[in-house]
Order: sequence, then C-alpha cells, then structure tokens
Amino acid sequence: MGEIIVVASQKGGVGKTTTSINLATSFAIFEKKTLLVDLDPQGSIAASFHLQGLDIEYGLYDIIVNKIPLTLAIKDIGLDNLEIVPSHIKTEEEEVELYTQLLQKMMLRSILTPLKNMYDYIILDCPPSLGTITINALIAAELLLIPVQSEYFSLNSLGKFLRTVRNIGSNHNPNLKLLGILITMLDKRVKKSKEIAEELKHNFKDIVFNAVIPRNSKIAEAPALGKPVALIDLASPGSVSYLKLAEEIINKK
Ligand SMILES: Nc1ncnc2c1ncn2[C@@H]1O[C@H](COP(=O)(O)OP(=O)(O)OP(=O)(O)O)[C@@H](O)[C@H]1O
Ligand SMILES: [Mg+2]
Repeated sequence: MGEIIVVASQKGGVGKTTTSINLATSFAIFEKKTLLVDLDPQGSIAASFHLQGLDIEYGLYDIIVNKIPLTLAIKDIGLDNLEIVPSHIKTEEEEVELYTQLLQKMMLRSILTPLKNMYDYIILDCPPSLGTITINALIAAELLLIPVQSEYFSLNSLGKFLRTVRNIGSNHNPNLKLLGILITMLDKRVKKSKEIAEELKHNFKDIVFNAVIPRNSKIAEAPALGKPVALIDLASPGSVSYLKLAEEIINKK
C-alpha cells in the first residue's frame, strides 16, 4: 500500500515545489512508483516539465470541480516510475471555484485513497497558505514534510504551523505523522544560514532530516530547462541531496 506525503509550509517560496519535484524524481530513480500531484493553482509543476496549454487536457481543477475521474488527469512525462497530475487552472474564477469545492474537507482524501494501491508514493505539492486546499491535503495524507528555508524568519513561524497542523490532525486525521522538517537553500558561505540550520537541528532534533538541501544554481535553473535536477546533472550537490532525502524516507519505513 502506497503512502501519501504532503509537502506544506506556513511560508511561500521555501522550496515546496522544488522539493516535491526532486523528491518525486529521486523516488522514481530508486524504482518507487510515484505520482506527483500539483495542488497549487500557480501550476508550477506542469511548467517545470515544460507542459503547457494543449499539452494538458485535464488536471486537479477538472477532478474537483467537474468530477472527472482522477485517472484521466494522470500525465505520463516520459520518465520511468513518475507521473504527474497538473493543476490546470486557467482563470481566477476557476481558482475560487476550486477553493470553494474544497470546503468539503474530506474530498481529496476520498479521491486519492483508491490510488494508494497503484503507487509507492503520492506526493502533494501545496500552495503557500493554510486554505482549503492545504487542509484537504493534510487530511488526505499519512505523512507531512515541511521544507524550511535556512533564514531568520523561518524559526518564528514554524512552531505555530506545527501546532495548527496538530490541531487539524487530531480533529480530522489522527493518522497524520510528521515525516520530517527539511532544511532547504542552505548557504554554507553565509554564517547566519549555517547558524539557523544548527538551531533548527538543536530545537527540533530527530524530526529534522539528516539530508540538507544546499542553495545550488543547478536546482534553480532546472525548471527553465524543463527537467528535474537529477536529469540535468546527477552528480551535482542538489541532486545528490535530494537522492539522500529519498533514501532516508525509504529507510524510515
Ligand atoms: N536549493 C535551492 N537552491 C537554489 N534555488 C532554489 C532551491 N530551492 C528552491 N530554489 C528556488 O527558490 C524559488 C522558490 O522555490 P519553490 O518554488 O520551490 O518554493 P515554494 O515553496 O514552492 O514557493 P510557493 O510558496 O510560491 O509555492 C524558486 O525560484 C526555486 O527555483
Ligand atoms: Mg510552490
């Protein structure tokens, strides 16, 4: 039976989408059958694989609002063991419709549960807010991965986010477990960035992954090339760190 991992954080721009794409690719490299679902109306996942316009027939929007079967929205992207579901939201009105439909907190859970016997991992990339989409994802998943950027303001809001998630868990999804906190965009040349990473490890101990994602130009450039970083340069520090993360998660089982 596969597991659903939700990638969420209280902050925007911390590496949720980058982590979702590169962790999913790393699982696929380790021959774990993986589905990557874009829950963010920004639609960055399809764009990161250079899918646009007519390339996408159906996506999250069509599943939630038009009730088409999820299997119709699964896209083969030409990689072994990895498929995606794009978000496919074309207007602001559609975005509002999606948020409104998802006032039904259990909707995503009932849509995704039947897929768990088709995949080893289903990864959900959330938008940068605790709105109805993220709440649905936290109720649908078993495991939560929180990317935290190694910078000063991250520490302030993390505790609050963890408390909110615990509340949602105890009210609606007692099976939700914290898989781990992932330190992203660590810049070893910046003293403050290293200090924050150390403080996170000190305060949150075992819940921080051993794998740490460095700030790395190849990671940042990958979406413009339409590929995950491992397919651009498997030996680059960015790809190696995401492979280590995947290995750590696989071994946690
Ligand atoms: N390890 C890294 N090294 C360098 N750049 C990175 C790294 N991780 C992410 N980035 C860049 O930082 C920006 C934000 O990353 P990303 O889009 O993954 O964050 P996000 O949390 O999904 O953002 P949002 O909250 O808007 O959805 C992107 O331009 C991305 O390419
Ligand atoms: Mg994102």
